[in-house]
Amino acid sequence: MCRVLDDGEVTVQVGIIGAGNVGHALGLASVRAGHEVRISASQPSEAESVAQEVGAQPAGSNAESIQGADVVILAVPFEAVEEITSELGSALNGKVVIDVTNRFAPEQLDGPSNAERTQMLVPDARVVKAFNTIFAANQSEPSVDGVQLDGFVAGDDAAAKDTVISLVESMGFRAVDTGPLAMARALEGMGVLNISLNASKGWPWKSGWKLVGPTEPAQA
Ligand SMILES: NC(=O)c1ccc[n+]([C@@H]2O[C@H](COP(=O)([O-])OP(=O)(O)OC[C@H]3O[C@@H](n4cnc5c(N)ncnc54)[C@H](OP(=O)(O)O)[C@@H]3O)[C@@H](O)[C@H]2O)c1
Repeated sequence: MCRVLDDGEVTVQVGIIGAGNVGHALGLASVRAGHEVRISASQPSEAESVAQEVGAQPAGSNAESIQGADVVILAVPFEAVEEITSELGSALNGKVVIDVTNRFAPEQLDGPSNAERTQMLVPDARVVKAFNTIFAANQSEPSVDGVQLDGFVAGDDAAAKDTVISLVESMGFRAVDTGPLAMARALEGMGVLNISLNASKGWPWKSGWKLVGPTEPAQA
């Protein structure tokens, strides 16, 4: 549940499904930011060891992970999303659900984004795209070469997007609201580009996105 601390900081309860690279990194970043975090995985033993490493609570099942959560992070391959959303059913209704999933090749960028497809699978949840433009290696280290990375966010539900923007900022990123969920098509394109550059050029998977220049309205 959402809590306001003495210093005015707001913390939320985060349920993370998936205990791989992203589950680990966002678990660590969320715990460091003071949020209450529960992690589940296909194998409860995996969730236990990652939760212990990052200082989160392990959950014995995906349903347990999201119980009482303000924000649910689907830190799984997109191929697993359909099974997980069908397993959780109405338990996701009304929840802020973060789709972090990426595609891996330009040919996969046709049609609706993964995030829009996730929203179709859970029409009563509030799906927000975030974190897909940030490699796992940077998700718990928001600065690269002294530059604060941006966390690009897209979603149709304004309140849900605000919650995710606060979460992104609490982890040390500058959040950039890119507009409606359909903008996830562009964000997933950014993911494909960074992935293919690192894969094809042998880079060490640490490059990240930063929008430079003024980001406030121009003065008349
Ligand atoms: N790696 C990155 O730098 C990065 C950055 C941004 C976004 N992403 C996206 O983030 C997602 C996760 O990437 P990753 O690198 O963390 O992958 P990963 O290391 O392979 O981890 C995926 C995790 O999902 C779990 N999982 C699969 N099916 C599940 C289910 N039904 N219930 C619960 N857990 C399940 C896996 O468990 P098992 O292994 O036991 O199946 C594993 O713990 C992907 O969609 C990826 O495109 C990745």
